[in-house]
Amino acid sequence: MPKVTILPVELAAEVAVGENLLDAGEHAGVEMVAGCFNCSCGTCAVEVIRGAENLAAVTPREAEVLAASQRHPGRFRLACATKVLRGETTIRQLD
Ligand code: FES
Repeated sequence: MPKVTILPVELAAEVAVGENLLDAGEHAGVEMVAGCFNCSCGTCAVEVIRGAENLAAVTPREAEVLAASQRHPGRFRLACATKVLRGETTIRQLD
């Protein structure tokens, strides 16, 4: 199963393929910041530290929401909209 580690708390969880990064946080016992849960508000943005290639591709909608907060999709993802596909991924919650 894919594994997601969440910084700065350094908690990790295994997730089923297709679960998103918010699910990963929940499994790891991390309180994730989120608002709409629907790829609209941008409050769930996280920084991808390692394993970006293990995540589903950025959708045009996600890119649009990230751009609205000046976050580049090569570095940041929206946790509610980002599915985990494989391997080990490390993300960092934003302040
Ligand atoms: S919770 Fe609103 S975009 Fe993810």
